[in-house]
Amino acid sequence: MIPDILNFKWDELMAKITYVEHSGTEHVVEVASGLTVMEGARDNNIPGIEADCGGACACSTCHVYVDTAWTDKVPAMDGMEEDMLDFAFEPKPGQSRLTCQLRVSDDLDGLIVRMPERQI
Ligand code: FES
Repeated sequence: MIPDILNFKWDELMAKITYVEHSGTEHVVEVASGLTVMEGARDNNIPGIEADCGGACACSTCHVYVDTAWTDKVPAMDGMEEDMLDFAFEPKPGQSRLTCQLRVSDDLDGLIVRMPERQI
């Protein structure tokens, strides 16, 4: 059977993510499923997420606060991310995440993340 590529909806592979700088400036971008929230910021030149280690969960400079409406919807964090968050600037239990560990999927369409005042 030939796949129905003419009716394939490419926008279903994208998630709209709102990045809010500490100043309040919002950036709303479409990020492809499979990328991380950090890569979405990097690829769209959004300031405030430095990602010094390139996504290896080894620097905590991709730290954000997940909007409270989304904290139960994002994938659970593993122990490595939890440990690395100890080095983040003013982490907030239940809201702080490392964006390099948040994989984008349809489920994250509409996600809102806020940057801390600074990274580390
Ligand atoms: Fe370094 Fe996320 S990019 S911990």
